[in-house]
Amino acid sequence: MAKRSDDEISPSTRLVAGGRRPEWTGPVVNPPVWRASTHLYEDMAALKAGPKSNTDGAFFYGRRGAPTQWALAEALTELEPGAAGTMLYPSGVAAIAGALLAVLRPGHVLLMTDNAYDPSRVMGAGLLRDFGVETRFFDPLDPADFEAKIDDRAKAVLLEAPGSLTMEVQDVPALAAMARQHGMVSVMDNTWASPLGFQTLSHGIDISVMSLTKHVGGHSDVMMGSATAGPELYARLRKTAQALGQVVSPDDAALVLRGLRTLGVRLERETESALKIAQWLLQRPEVALVMCPMLPGSPGHDIWRRDFTGGCGLFSFVFKGGDAEARARFVDALALFGIGYSWGGFESLVVPVDPAPIRSVTPWPFAGMDPADRFGLRLSIGLEDPDDLIADLERGFAAL
Ligand SMILES: Cc1ncc(COP(=O)(O)O)c(C=O)c1O
Repeated sequence: MAKRSDDEISPSTRLVAGGRRPEWTGPVVNPPVWRASTHLYEDMAALKAGPKSNTDGAFFYGRRGAPTQWALAEALTELEPGAAGTMLYPSGVAAIAGALLAVLRPGHVLLMTDNAYDPSRVMGAGLLRDFGVETRFFDPLDPADFEAKIDDRAKAVLLEAPGSLTMEVQDVPALAAMARQHGMVSVMDNTWASPLGFQTLSHGIDISVMSLTKHVGGHSDVMMGSATAGPELYARLRKTAQALGQVVSPDDAALVLRGLRTLGVRLERETESALKIAQWLLQRPEVALVMCPMLPGSPGHDIWRRDFTGGCGLFSFVFKGGDAEARARFVDALALFGIGYSWGGFESLVVPVDPAPIRSVTPWPFAGMDPADRFGLRLSIGLEDPDDLIADLERGFAAL
């Protein structure tokens, strides 16, 4: 969906009424769920014109959406200054695939940050390779490594800042500028910060991707992804998504739009609680490293301070020594943290972090760390009282 207006209002205000057009909502606050495959035409002339126009916000057939999906897409576009439109996909992974397939062709090279979400890596090593695209990984914290791996065939780069397991914050403006200089398209997975914490396009990124399943949905009951870009790349995203038949259900779009309205307060609360818990963990003798972008000493923290306007509740920490059994005892002793993949919902979650098998150019444990310190956990801090969560983690340490 294309953008409607470019008013200079703050993101938290934009969240409240984003995507609310009277012709989509009528007198109610949120757009109703327009559940439709068939769109009916008034007459033959309208039927003939429909498929031809292929414009945003025009009824044609369910696969091009209806006002519920359009309102969500428009609300997301309004959060990214410089964006022309947003495509919605049935998951975050589908959004990453949609963005990469829109810009890569056989013979091209994709550069990918070594801390990328594992399914993004799998996409490079599998689907993209099968289509004749080579993927090269680079050190997330070393722009010189990125530049050294660029050649004439390099046409796109996938960034993720911070990485969703090891949390390194990349120098996005520097990497995006280099990519542009070499005629490459930069794609960034901005799920961690969302546009409230990091406005990708303003920092030189061409396509901003999010798993809306996480913070934006926010209630752990819906899957969706988005890709947002300026006019030229938005047109390519749209063409590719239409060719692949990508569409999201209006019921899901309504849930995600409902989540979006409260994104700001949830992120603020989660960030504050996560920082409190991360600082507490840093004092524990059983902890070797806390990887929380908002915390001094975490990899890339200075860049986070320079470029980001917000954080979230997702961070990791590493035990001093120990083994997988001790870590399992810790997790099993927790009463308030659910054990489960995903993150960004209102409830706190924990999963083990074992990144070694999914790194190829940077080591785990990180250079300079004791090799014995390698058993990590990732916490997604939700909306509970942080002191209750700290008491829960105490139970975990007691069980080690
Ligand atoms: C950083 C990141 N990007 C993308 C995704 C994929 O999102 P989805 O699960 O909606 O496909 C995830 C999922 O965990 C993620 O952590």
